[in-house]
Amino acid sequence: MEIFAHRGCSGEHPENTMAAFRAACAAGADGIELDVQLTKDGEAVVIHDERIDRTTNGIGFVKDFRYKQLKLFDAGSWFNRRFSRETIPALRDVLDYIKSERPDMKVNIELKNDVFPYEGLEENVLQCIERSGMEKSVILSSFQFSSMGKIRDFAPDVETALLFQGIPSNMMEEAKRVRASALHCESAYAASPAGKRAAEAGYALRVYTVNQTDQLEAFKKAGVSAIITDYPDLFLGNKSVPL
Ligand code: G3P
Ligand code: MG
Repeated sequence: MEIFAHRGCSGEHPENTMAAFRAACAAGADGIELDVQLTKDGEAVVIHDERIDRTTNGIGFVKDFRYKQLKLFDAGSWFNRRFSRETIPALRDVLDYIKSERPDMKVNIELKNDVFPYEGLEENVLQCIERSGMEKSVILSSFQFSSMGKIRDFAPDVETALLFQGIPSNMMEEAKRVRASALHCESAYAASPAGKRAAEAGYALRVYTVNQTDQLEAFKKAGVSAIITDYPDLFLGNKSVPL
């Protein structure tokens, strides 16, 4: 079972910053998960919320700033003052870093286009991936299933995943419709008959956000491919739990 660092090692570092991604690389995580939004001037940037208020010292929507303006904000001090030099990373910079530091690592790029549609986000992200030559190591995901259909049209070889909450009964049909090969789900889905059927049918199940080790055996039995956690060290360092 693979271990993905959710927003980087976000339990102990400010989420979606280079510090969190550096820690994930150093921890030996199999992959990182990150969130992408689009600036006013079309830069794909790595930040979870549509607004910058929670995770920086600025105020406003990502979409209303130019990239150069966004880079001026402090994206680390809200977490701890020792991270005051962290800024909102551009997706291309994170991909370049992973490619040079851990070329074996997978990168789950979550397109945050369920609140604002971000016209052209799919093409933009695919260009960043192509530029870094990471087509084989990325997984694109979104709560917006039609967006994954677009990715499939533009880039047939890039892996796509549907992101969802709860235990919907029709996820395999939805995945078939937009030609996605993976389902990114909550733990309840992985433990459900629907989840079991999806795993048996060959869909890669990746479970978010798992911060405790108690369900690992159950996930393994259910055929889960990966967990996405804020604390990769908890899983990578816990030798008493057979992964
Ligand atoms: O991609 C899994 C997970 O990150 C989805 O939820 O809100 O943490 O982006 P969220
Ligand atoms: Mg996410």
